[in-house]
Amino acid sequence: MLPSFVDRPKGNEKGEFIALDLGGTNFRVLAVNLDGKGVATVLNVSKFAVHKKYMQGTGEQLFNFIADCINSFLTENGFKRTKTYDLAFTFSFPVQQTSIAAGVLIAWTKGFTAKGVQGKDVVNLLNEALKRKHIDCIRVTALANDTVGTLVAGSYKDPICDLGVIMGTGTNACYREKRSNIKKFKGPDFEGHMIVNMEWGNFDKVRLTCYDRELDASSVNPGAMHLEKMVSGMYLGELARRVLVDGIKRDIIFLNAPHAALIFKRKGSLKTSHMSLIEGDETAGLDQVDEFLKQKGISDSTLDDRILLKRLCRLVSSRAVGLGATAIAAVIIWMDPELRQMHTVAIDGSLFENHPGFPSKMTGVLRKLYGVKAEKIAWVHSKDGSGRGAAIIAAVAAFSEKNRKMMQE
Ligand code: BGC
Repeated sequence: MLPSFVDRPKGNEKGEFIALDLGGTNFRVLAVNLDGKGVATVLNVSKFAVHKKYMQGTGEQLFNFIADCINSFLTENGFKRTKTYDLAFTFSFPVQQTSIAAGVLIAWTKGFTAKGVQGKDVVNLLNEALKRKHIDCIRVTALANDTVGTLVAGSYKDPICDLGVIMGTGTNACYREKRSNIKKFKGPDFEGHMIVNMEWGNFDKVRLTCYDRELDASSVNPGAMHLEKMVSGMYLGELARRVLVDGIKRDIIFLNAPHAALIFKRKGSLKTSHMSLIEGDETAGLDQVDEFLKQKGISDSTLDDRILLKRLCRLVSSRAVGLGATAIAAVIIWMDPELRQMHTVAIDGSLFENHPGFPSKMTGVLRKLYGVKAEKIAWVHSKDGSGRGAAIIAAVAAFSEKNRKMMQE
């Protein structure tokens, strides 16, 4: 539970900001315009693949890469180097923030292990890299988790939005808490609310299966992020693969295709995107599943094999949906035990967006938990919310800084 140093925006924040989004296999640089009337528009965006050598090399290499990407973004989009641009850094890892624009990385997640970053202020590391690369036109004014960006972007337009959720490569949520309840916040006392980054991916009170335990042991962060490893896109395919390999070993599936064992023995041979394809196949003969298996080198699967494979994938993803929706319900119960008010959940992430039926299945679970009252909970898909939200946070920070200076003068 990490204080974010921001609350929901007012909706009247204005200006043009640059936002960075680091948190998975892609790094994005965006220019975002806020019209002051609840609309945050992405003007330019560049996407860069984060190769393993940067994820798992040194911090200096990773931050140099980030600075290089900013450089090409500025050049490609004609930003003048004579001006100064406020930049918001969405850094989607657990960070102990010490202000709106400073924070120390507690632990890497999602396969990142870059050395020399844990325990350091990531805004300092970014500033040092910008200096090394002679990029003088950037001022880093905000640091935010992607969930916080998503909630802020959602509530820029919709003032009852009070929960931000990511179901993507990783999973996490944030919500609004009374300032007086946040014991970890060491800043000046004030009335009102602050958004709390829950880091719910690290929740570890859920019972694990043998497949969860094996996956955890083979990950780069064993013992950590149990819920994330049961729910998020980075792990679901791998979990399903482990169940499948066990099924093959026990002669439950692919009885006529003995080489399937060898094919699926390799880590990464069944990805979450493959699960989406398999579960999304509605043809009678499961033709798309057949095609997928043929591409893998299994041309002799039976229809029963394909039905079983689909069911297996569905079990793994349904558990993820169930856990995700239950976690959302738990936060809403904390905020509003009787469900007296309406709540909007701003949500984003590749799993939510791309996995067949994910949103409607989440609604289904909420209905099971809440009955008709579930109608009080609405989703809004906050596309690119983390980047747009970070820009809004930068606007809030720039406004407070201007006010502070005016008060001093
Ligand atoms: C990180 C969170 C992040 C989530 C979604 C998790 O691995 O710890 O900070 O919000 O992924 O990107």
